[in-house]
Amino acid sequence: MRNDIESILVSKEALNEKTKELARRISQDYEGKELVLIGVLKGGFVFLADLMREITIPVDMDFMSVSSYGDSTKSSGVVRIIKDIDINITNKHVLIVEDLVDTGLTLKHLKELLNTRGPASVKICTALDKPSRRKVEIEVEYEGIEIPDEFVVGYGLDYGGKYRNLPEVCTLSPRIYENR
Ligand code: IMP
Ligand code: MG
Repeated sequence: MRNDIESILVSKEALNEKTKELARRISQDYEGKELVLIGVLKGGFVFLADLMREITIPVDMDFMSVSSYGDSTKSSGVVRIIKDIDINITNKHVLIVEDLVDTGLTLKHLKELLNTRGPASVKICTALDKPSRRKVEIEVEYEGIEIPDEFVVGYGLDYGGKYRNLPEVCTLSPRIYENR
């Protein structure tokens, strides 16, 4: 797996530091409120697991699974709900936890959907951000590390279902895409 990597864009240490900073802010901002973290599967689970262990106030959590990518490197713009949350979010403060905001289409759709269920608030927290790729305007209240417009894997992010278990955010060697 290591042989497939071209470069490390974001180190373990940088991810860890940013996660702690975001968790500190979230713990302060949601003090005394009922907070529900909603992880976006599959990629968001790695960041969610790290983030929630740095949050110092009580939290509930659940997962949603949406599909917009298949195993290609281009967004289809189509968001399909594959798994919905089981819990009731009425009057709860919802924080969507995502691995990476790219075009913003996935999160825009998710936020709109969750807002129809009567939550007290819906905000967004992301580990990584590619602002140059945005197609729709979307507010990211807890913004992670900004990365350039390059396809990345690791820290939950995959290419064709692989590389999610890399602890850093990496670019892949061009030969990996040639072999498709
Ligand atoms: P958006 O709807 O375009 O913002 O899609 C965001 C989602 O697409 C992310 O949560 C990832 O699952 C996936 N994605 C976007 N860019 C990359 C990438 O560089 N590598 C792997 N997955 C990506
Ligand atoms: Mg995702």
